[in-house]
Parts: sequence; structure tokens; C-alpha cells
Amino acid sequence: MLLGPPGAGKGTMAGGLANSAGLAVFVTGDVLRAAIAGGSELGIKVKSTVEAGRLVDDETILSLAQEFLRTHSQGALFDGFPRTIKQAEGLRSLLSAEDELRVVYLDTSKETIVARLGARRVCPECGRIYNVRFKPPRNDEICDDCNASLICRKDDTDEVIKSRYELYLAETAPLVNYFSEELLKVNGDLPGEEVLEIVRGELCPA
Ligand code: AP5
Repeated sequence: MLLGPPGAGKGTMAGGLANSAGLAVFVTGDVLRAAIAGGSELGIKVKSTVEAGRLVDDETILSLAQEFLRTHSQGALFDGFPRTIKQAEGLRSLLSAEDELRVVYLDTSKETIVARLGARRVCPECGRIYNVRFKPPRNDEICDDCNASLICRKDDTDEVIKSRYELYLAETAPLVNYFSEELLKVNGDLPGEEVLEIVRGELCPA
């Protein structure tokens, strides 16, 4: 699983790691945003919570994770889950004795996060993540892969970024201690390619 504050690069790493690690990727934020865009019952329930940058209730998230693990038994990469101690306990209870849990913690400064999130753009079609400062598309605000116009996430405003970060410190940062036995700490302030190389070297040795 990938652990770290908003903007640490969890989604970027998940995109880079999924193929090499041969893992099915569970991105809670993407699942919730897709539900909102599709207008499903789940989407209607979580819309205001997600757009305000608050946490969706543990029960809803755990049932999504349980369903994902039930249908992907070959190995999974979690981006954005778990995010509370209760979710972490729920994850442990879903794993069997043979399962191996590895936690990559992207230790990233607040200054880095603020700089990155204000410049993030996302493709609404394929979900590819860009950054107009650090990882721009080839053509201005257009996805390299599917030619769609890139968008800003609704929770990437200055005010919501600040409250997401505060919520991270209160609810999610305690997981660094909770998972101390399984933790690989990586400097998330480094450029993306360097972070990916370190994480790949640890998780997918040649
Ligand atoms: P979610 O989508 O998971 O948001 P988040 O955790 O706030 O994380 P982000 O997606 O903002 O950041 P990231 O670390 O993935 O960074 P990224 O790779 O995009 O969740 C959204 C919402 O859903 C939550 O607020 C909540 O409401 C709900 N939710 C989700 N999971 C939940 C759960 N378990 N429980 C309850 N509620 C839940 O990178 C950011 C930018 O920086 C990009 O532009 C990227 O190009 C750039 N970048 C990344 N790495 C680097 C680098 N090393 N160098 C330079 N630029 C970089």
C-alpha cells in the first residue's frame, strides 16, 4: 500500500508501479470520483464529502476494499487506503496468514504538497495525472494519451488542500507508527523518476 499526505505522489507511483509489480490497483479516490461522475447511489452519498476534502466513512470504504480483494486475489496495490486506524485494522482482518503486507510511506513536506497540488491536472477520460510545473503534457492542457482536455480536481483549491492536509495529520499520519514493522520510508520530495526507481527497487527487485 502507498501511504502519504495528499500530493505526495501516491497516484503517480501507483500508475508507474502497477505494470512492473503485476498488481491490481485499488485507488479509493478514483473509485469515489467515478461513482460521483456516474451519479450512482454511492456517488450521490459521497459527493459533498469528497469535494470538501473530508473523509468518507470507514464502513463504506471497508466494504469497497473487501469487494476489491474478493475479486482480485492475485495481489493488490492500495493507493489511498487505509486512511484511518479503523480502516487499517479492517485491512488486517481482510488479509490471510499467507498474505504479505508492504507499506511504502512517501514522506513529503507541506511546501512540496502545496506547490504540486495547485499545478495538478488530470485527464477526465483515462485518469492520467499531470503537473503543469513538474510533469506537463506535450501539448498545453491536452492528454498525451487520449487528446482530452485536462481538468483540475474540485478538491485542489487552496482552502480544500489546507483542510485535507490537516485531516491527513489528524487521521492518517498515525498509520506511520501503526505500520512501523512493514514500513519503507521514501523521500517524497524527490523528483518522480527518482522516487519510482527507489520504490521499484524495493518492491520489484530484478
Ligand atoms: P485521493 O484521490 O486519494 O486524494 P489524496 O489522498 O488527497 O491524494 P491525492 O490524489 O491528492 O495525491 P497523490 O498522493 O495521489 O498525488 P499525485 O500522484 O496525484 O482521495 C480524494 C478524496 O476521496 C479524499 O479527500 C476523501 O474524501 C476520499 N477518500 C479517498 N480514500 C479514502 C479513504 N480511504 N477513506 C475515506 N475517504 C477517502 O501527485 C500530485 C501532483 O504532484 C501531480 O500533479 C503529480 O504530477 C505531481 N507529482 C507527484 N509526484 C511528484 C514528484 N515526485 N515530483 C514532482 N511532481 C510530482
